Amino acid sequence: MSGTVLVGAQWGDEGKGKITDLITPNFDFVVRFQGGNNAGHTVIHGDVKLALHLIPSGIMYPQITPVIGNGCVIDPKVLLEEMKMLDGAGFSTQRLLISGNAHLIMPWHLALDAASEQQLGSNEIGTTRRGIGPAYMAKSARTGIRVQDLLDPQIFNLKVTTTLAEVNETLIKLYGQQAFEAEQVVADYLRYAEKIIPHISDVSQVLNEALKNGQQILFEGAQGTLLDLDHGTYPFVTSSSCTAGGATIGSGVGPTAIKKVLGIAKAYITRVGSGPFPTELNDETGKMLSELGGEVGTTTGRLRRCGWYDAVIIRYAAQVNGLTDLCITKLDVLSCLPSIKVCVAYECDGKRYTTVPGSQSDFHHAVPIYEELPGWETDISHCRRFEELPSEAQDYINFIEARAGVPVSMIAVGPDREQTIMSGW
Ligand code: GDP
Ligand code: IMO
Ligand code: MG
Repeated sequence: MSGTVLVGAQWGDEGKGKITDLITPNFDFVVRFQGGNNAGHTVIHGDVKLALHLIPSGIMYPQITPVIGNGCVIDPKVLLEEMKMLDGAGFSTQRLLISGNAHLIMPWHLALDAASEQQLGSNEIGTTRRGIGPAYMAKSARTGIRVQDLLDPQIFNLKVTTTLAEVNETLIKLYGQQAFEAEQVVADYLRYAEKIIPHISDVSQVLNEALKNGQQILFEGAQGTLLDLDHGTYPFVTSSSCTAGGATIGSGVGPTAIKKVLGIAKAYITRVGSGPFPTELNDETGKMLSELGGEVGTTTGRLRRCGWYDAVIIRYAAQVNGLTDLCITKLDVLSCLPSIKVCVAYECDGKRYTTVPGSQSDFHHAVPIYEELPGWETDISHCRRFEELPSEAQDYINFIEARAGVPVSMIAVGPDREQTIMSGW
């Protein structure tokens, strides 16, 4: 029995969708275990380009079973739109399994997300405003509404009515927003339910049976290590566990099922939204990476902040996720540069750190210490073997590997499935 977890090693958008799609043929199940439609995973193969938010990126292969685990939060309207888009594109969503224990994003979660961001003003988190934080808040407060509640209209009605009695007060009195009509919400959600109910499944049971039968499971992470609620740059994080441990809690399999943990990192680094970012480049180089890397958010269309590769962060990600393998994406984007910097340590208020500082205040002041490596200034997007890369690009990867302490077993040199170097995976 064997499970593999794929996680983002930075602040999200590392190319998880591309790599999930690439390795899916090795698996029987592909499982999303946390997050919701804050995620935006791009999958490109030939003429086909998919932007996925909730459905696992292995969907293009008819032989696998796609699963949305209990750790996810689901906006049913968005889910049905995504299913319709995929079915229309010829990728059947009939096999999709959805955990009855996953929580529903309700319309007021979106309103609360936007209102609290507005209230924070210049201190805003920069959320995707998809209602993610408020949905997980309700889950933790034990007042959340779950997918399985759609099976019982009476219970569903009761939960919506009870919740709205309190939420409407908050929306009106605290935020000066409009109230929601319980009747309308119930009618909308019970309409969505008709299409969702056939997919509801006891996901934990199904996955454990599969493991017993020797089947292979890929757990596809969303967001990234530094957006993790516990291990990220709190409070500038998302509200779920995006690190590898989240795969077990968010799907109902035990940790002993996990044999491999693949971390995905860009050959540079990006971040969407607010929060500390020591290697951020607010200059022409940053602009060039943004343009050549197409660094625009898949979900919100916001420009991503760009910076140099941060080896301290990757070593941290290797530690908190227990990475067994590292995949470096977007190496082709660096082809434009005569020399490339890598952050190897920080200086905070006169003190040198080779690990991520424990105090957020220190991390906010962290000044990166760089090593500079020569660039290769030649197109590498056609390379399919490590030996085909220019020696400077090989040296760059070897440098990253040594600093991470984890083997780099995959390198992406373009967005297409084919544009990948597999070295040891
Ligand atoms: P995810 O959220 O981690 O799945 O990443 P996104 O899909 O949000 O962002 C990654 C972007 O980079 C997408 O547009 C991908 O098509 C693209 N991409 C992935 N790998 C590569 C690569 O090796 N080179 C280039 N140029 N683009 C890539
Ligand atoms: P994928 O899976 C990049 C960021 C938001 C914000 C913070 C909290 O495509 O890598 P939230 O809406 O989750 O409460 O926002 O997290 N964020 C992401 N950044 N990629 C993502 O997903 C993200 N999902 C959330 O920009 O800073
Ligand atoms: Mg993304």
